[in-house]
Amino acid sequence: MYTVDLDGLNAQFAVAGHVSFRVGYGGLPVADIANIHATATISLHGAHVTAFQPHGQDPVLWLSDYCCWEAGKAIRGGIPVCWPWFAAHPADSGKPAHGFVRTAMWKVMATEALANGATQITFGFTESEATLALWPYAFRLEMVVTVGAVLQVELVAHNTGNKEFICGGALHSYFRVNDVTEIAVRGLEGCTYIDSLDLSHRKLQEEPVTISSETDRIYVDTTADCTIDDPGMGRRIRIVRKGSRSVVVWNPWKDKAARMEDFGDQEYLGMICVETANAADDVVMVPSMGEHRLQTVISVE
Ligand code: BG6
Repeated sequence: MYTVDLDGLNAQFAVAGHVSFRVGYGGLPVADIANIHATATISLHGAHVTAFQPHGQDPVLWLSDYCCWEAGKAIRGGIPVCWPWFAAHPADSGKPAHGFVRTAMWKVMATEALANGATQITFGFTESEATLALWPYAFRLEMVVTVGAVLQVELVAHNTGNKEFICGGALHSYFRVNDVTEIAVRGLEGCTYIDSLDLSHRKLQEEPVTISSETDRIYVDTTADCTIDDPGMGRRIRIVRKGSRSVVVWNPWKDKAARMEDFGDQEYLGMICVETANAADDVVMVPSMGEHRLQTVISVE
């Protein structure tokens, strides 16, 4: 359970017509954004965008009805921030999957109403005794979320220590779809992927990606835009990436969903993860005093 100074947050960072703070499920503090373009919700736990909805559109992100809203646990859905590693730790599977920042409390650093009517909110997270025990580097992260007609999310990793570090990560975006068996993910044709469900064999993606069973793939060495064509919802979601050379496509399908406590048994049909990532071969070296920016821009066409 977090102790939240809601009055302090609102006094310092609320912006009329743009941002306000409240206590959400499980006592986790959240920022609500409502402006002339869209609404969004971001949990301070994980600097985790849990909702984004441009006015006149359906919700863009998927969020489980069975989330564990708890300090120390990851929120299932929205955009978890995975850092400084993606999936299991490369050398120690006892460390938390997808790193340690998605399950920790971040600080609000700044809020701003932009001239075009969009809203920007910046969260910060730096190393502590707890993170140094898991990963022995000094760092400062900034998570800059800009909510307008499109959603822009940027994770800036500053290396504040005196030695270089290597990091992977993901803006692990869960999208809402009408029926995952009817969608097509385009933009990855011609790419190599690592099939996590087939002994990590490398395979070639020839056609647009379609889903008819459990899918867990890392597309490597690609900077292409991806789209999710969803005829059932009558929309195409576009994902534009910067500082990202991998795309992870994940759907747990029926059996895995049933094994996960925070995933409804049928919910796998209504979601797809298309993640802006740096995974497997695509990890990044950040020199001392250097930075790396991982950005995703999500729009609906
Ligand atoms: C995906 C991985 O990115 O995240 C999957 O490729 C994993 O292997 C999924 O199952 C969910 O991970 P978690 O840790 O949130 O349950």
